[in-house]
This record gives sequence, structure tokens and C-alpha cells, in this order.
Amino acid sequence: MATLPLSLSFISILLITFSTNATASKLGKETETHLHFYLHEIFNDTEPSTVLVAQGPNTSNLNTSFGAVLVMDAMLTETPNRNSKLIGKAQGIQLIAPPLLSSQEDRSLLFVVNLVFVQGEFNGSSLAVLGRIPISSPVREMPVIGGTGRFRFARGYVLTQSYEFDIVKGDIIIEYDVHVLHY
Ligand SMILES: *[C@@H]1O[C@H](CO)[C@@H](O)[C@H](O)[C@H]1NC(C)=O
Ligand SMILES: *[C@@H]1O[C@H](CO)[C@@H](O)[C@H](O)[C@H]1NC(C)=O
Ligand SMILES: *[C@@H]1O[C@H](CO)[C@@H](O)[C@H](O)[C@H]1NC(C)=O
Ligand SMILES: *[C@@H]1O[C@H](CO)[C@@H](O)[C@H](O)[C@H]1NC(C)=O
Repeated sequence: MATLPLSLSFISILLITFSTNATASKLGKETETHLHFYLHEIFNDTEPSTVLVAQGPNTSNLNTSFGAVLVMDAMLTETPNRNSKLIGKAQGIQLIAPPLLSSQEDRSLLFVVNLVFVQGEFNGSSLAVLGRIPISSPVREMPVIGGTGRFRFARGYVLTQSYEFDIVKGDIIIEYDVHVLHY
């Protein structure tokens, strides 16, 4: 029991130390950046961008794929051509969520992804995106919840739509429009 007040006072000393060292600074003017690029998802055995890493006991029996966990490392390019200029990578996880209603139509993904940029003024900066992708919607919207580097304090939204969906080849190209406010 004697250690409790001691550790509490240690914490309050730490708090005092931090607060006396704190300095206030003003952020610059907030700017809006619009980024446009294409994400390439490849589902094949040799060079997949996206792989199934885990699933529930019954996922493969369910026509919704509920319980599937996918890991993604996908290229972001300037044009729909995969050999066009590399803008960055999308790295993260996708979880297949259950339908809201009991129809195949409203399946969705939980998308947790870092968009990491490798060109120009945003080289080395990243944006954190966390959102819901309703599979059947032609345009999907996800929030940008933060960022690093030039994108510190970022907030915004992403609109995506399928550009090409070749299920036989396992090639999916998705167009991204990212709108972010940052300093
Ligand atoms: C897998 O996809 C990549 C990119 O499209 C392609 O280069 C490769 O040849 C494909 N492999 C097979 C076995 O289809
Ligand atoms: C698993 O799938 C089978 C076949 O569709 C079904 O009969 C069974 O009830 C399912 N079990 C669970 C726990 O969902
Ligand atoms: C998927 O399974 C549900 C429940 O078993 C069923 O109601 C629905 O019609 C199925 N959808 C498709 C597209 O097979
Ligand atoms: C991006 O930054 C890395 C690390 O600083 C550097 O090696 C690379 O050349 C830069 N790329 C471009 C296109 O500026």
C-alpha cells in the first residue's frame, strides 16, 4: 500500500516537469491538397498485392466471405497503366464485414490503410485512411484520419471508384481522389 502514494507523487512530478517544459507554437496556414492516382490490386499467386491471411471457421462456406482478413501492399500510380509513374504504396488490412441486411448487395469491407508517398514534395509523407467500403456502391467514401511528414494534422476524405475490374486475371484498378486539409 505504501508504494501507491509514492508512485502517484512520481507521476505528478512527471506531469509538472512536462507542463513546465511545454511551449506553445502557432501552426501556419491550413492548405487543401487534392491528390489523384490509381491503386492496383492484384490477386494472383506470383505477384499478389493482396493476400488472405486469416479467416473464420466458416468463412469459405459463406457467400458473404464474412470473417476474411486480407493484407495489402498495393502500388499507387499516376495513370491507370501499372507501368506509369509510381506515386506511392497503399499498405494495410481489409476485413470483410457482414452485410447490414441479409443480402449480398450490401457487403462491405473495413479498410485500414496507410497511403505512403514516394514523389515530389510528399515523398516520405503518409496519410492514414480508415473507413468502410460498401462493395456495391459505385463511389465509396472514406475518412482520412491523420498523416505524417507534410501531412501532419491531416484530415479529409477519399473518394474511390473502380476503373477496371478483371476478375479472371485478378486485376483490379481503383481510381482515388484524396482531399486533405493540412499545414
Ligand atoms: C500476376 O500478376 C502480375 C501483375 O499483373 C503479372 O506480372 C504476373 O504475370 C501474374 N502472374 C500470373 C501467374 O498470372
Ligand atoms: C457453417 O456453414 C455451414 C454450411 O453452410 C452451416 O450449416 C453451419 O450452420 C455454419 N456454422 C456456423 C457456425 O455458422
Ligand atoms: C447468400 O446466403 C444467404 C443466406 O444463406 C442467402 O439468403 C442469399 O440469397 C445468398 N446470396 C447469394 C448471392 O447467393
Ligand atoms: C524520396 O526520398 C527518398 C529518401 O529520402 C530518396 O532516396 C528518394 O530519392 C526520393 N525520391 C524522389 C523521387 O524524390
